Amino acid sequence: MISTKNLHTFHLNTVAANVLHIDDESQLSQLWELPGPFMILGQGSNTVFIEDYDGHLVINELKGVEFSETEEHYLLSVKSGENWHELIKYCLSKQIYGFENLALIPGTVGAAPIQNIGAYGIEIERFIKTVHFYQFSNNEIKTLSREQCQFGYRDSIFKKELKQQGFITQVDFLLPKQWQPVCIYAPLNTLESPTAHEIFEQVCHTRKQKLPDPAVLGNAGSFFKNPIVEEDVATSLLKNYPNMPCYEVDYGLKKLAAGWLIEQAGLKGFVHKNVAVHDAQALVLVNKSGKASGEELLQLISIVKDKVLDCFAIELEPEVQLIGRQGDLSV
Ligand code: EPU
Repeated sequence: MISTKNLHTFHLNTVAANVLHIDDESQLSQLWELPGPFMILGQGSNTVFIEDYDGHLVINELKGVEFSETEEHYLLSVKSGENWHELIKYCLSKQIYGFENLALIPGTVGAAPIQNIGAYGIEIERFIKTVHFYQFSNNEIKTLSREQCQFGYRDSIFKKELKQQGFITQVDFLLPKQWQPVCIYAPLNTLESPTAHEIFEQVCHTRKQKLPDPAVLGNAGSFFKNPIVEEDVATSLLKNYPNMPCYEVDYGLKKLAAGWLIEQAGLKGFVHKNVAVHDAQALVLVNKSGKASGEELLQLISIVKDKVLDCFAIELEPEVQLIGRQGDLSV
């Protein structure tokens, strides 16, 4: 039994039956032969081990960054175990711009396409050229184009048909040399003709203010997805709450802010035993004392979901992946 406390950023005190480290693609063919279940983990920033895991945890440590250029683009080929934020810093140092709005998102490069990471007006799909995916079924690496990845809001084919079917080994990014700042969202919308470095600094500053550092206070970033609702649902809520944040996503669909709903439901800063709703950002749940149990966290999830359902008739869905004894847990 190996402790998973430091393998996930919520830091619950759980164990796994076994932990394996993958630092070379040639090791991948062993995975399918493992006795019992296994799951692939990057830096554990979007995964919470609610219970002890009865299988093998496979830690992605594939490393390497290569870049080339055409007249109009930089092409970056990055192994999936690289740290996302370190990649952004490396790009800035080489004057390759585009990723800066996504600064300080924790986790690995391989996890980025799975949930199509996004922040401050940019989702990673915009820069993805191809994703290399090792398939357990035939021992081959398949290359998926951006279209084949079926990206959506915090969603992709890797959460659907290809879930548990293989391992992302590499992501290829295409960044235009003609860089354009994206400053549509607060707090970037007050910057005047910013450089990529200024955007990077502002995003880092904002995230550090609102989002707790997992090294200090265990958490998994945004705990719930921002709910997508039919336009008439949003319209009727706006009648009662004219200041409610509400964004257009697609024709006839609106995105609401889960953090706002939780705060309005009176739960910002709410403490339940050893877990809590963060007092600076209600979308984040925290391991308040460092001693929280999975059960306490499940109870808090229920409290938050029930209260929001009660107040707004909106059903919140976790954004993080919850893991129980045999793998995925749904709540
Ligand atoms: N809000 C509140 N109270 C709160 C939190 C938010 O009223 O406690 C309101 C804000 O005032 C704002 C709206 O809700 O009007 C949206 O809040 P914010 O801009 O802070 O972003 P978010 O929707 O809470 C999303 C992502 C974050 C990303 C930020 C910045 C999701 C689930 N979360 O959060 O991603 O950093 O936008 O663009 O989409 C993550 O996925 O782990 C993550 C941190």
